[in-house]
Amino acid sequence: MGCRIVLLGPPASGKGTQAKALSTTLRVPHVSTGQLFRDAVRRQDAVGLRVRSFIEKGELVPDETTIAVVEDWLNERGRSPEFIMDGFPRTIAQAAAFDQMLGHRGLRPPLVVFIDITEENAMSRILGRLGCTNCGNLYHERFSPPRVTGTCDQCGQRLERRDDDTAVTVRERLRQYRSLTLPVVDHYRSMGLLREIDGGVDKQSVFNALLKLARE
Ligand code: AP5
Ligand code: MG
Ligand code: ZN
Repeated sequence: MGCRIVLLGPPASGKGTQAKALSTTLRVPHVSTGQLFRDAVRRQDAVGLRVRSFIEKGELVPDETTIAVVEDWLNERGRSPEFIMDGFPRTIAQAAAFDQMLGHRGLRPPLVVFIDITEENAMSRILGRLGCTNCGNLYHERFSPPRVTGTCDQCGQRLERRDDDTAVTVRERLRQYRSLTLPVVDHYRSMGLLREIDGGVDKQSVFNALLKLARE
């Protein structure tokens, strides 16, 4: 059958946190377009140079680039790839392209889960977020602090903030989300594929709800 999950939701709804945990438990690869882009920016490769200014401003990267990155990822994974998609698709054009990519491979539509939180919650989660520079594990200064300040519990490496986690950029990311990504939520809802969960509760409760859906 294959495990294919798409996590939709506003910035800081917990897509990355939950995708990482699900990936470990279900042994299915986690794909985050945001993380693929940040890695490319760090490497300063062609994709990195193209996307950098969009990410810095909190704007979505153009569809053509984003779709190509996901298509490449899928192509490297054989005939029936499994995945937990985090942050893609987030425009109607991306959703249409993604539906086609799966259709062409003869794959059934994915489980699409909408993790929702309020914009106030998004803001406070983002402004306290810390990520491990080595393993990518996510923390929050107040909501899930590391045992030792500034250091990853899992691997002992340094924690840092994302460059796009400023109040100004978050407001733009929320604007982009409202105008471009909410229609994707409606797209999957109208196809009868959408499942919705409350992302405003503790991490373990969100995880349990997701795992239940994944195992249905
Ligand atoms: P991306 O990296 O996808 O950012 P985002 O969508 O804004 O989402 P975040 O990563 O900020 O939040 P998250 O939902 O992963 O939450 P997290 O688990 O970290 O995209 C970045 C940029 O890349 C975009 O702005 C755009 O430019 C570009 N891009 C990416 N994909 C694109 C696409 N498809 N098309 C075009 N452009 C694209 O959690 C957040 C914080 O909250 C953490 O500190 C965490 O510890 C904490 N937390 C998590 N869960 C809980 C909980 N239940 N209770 C309390 N705290 C919690
Ligand atoms: Mg994320
Ligand atoms: Zn780490």
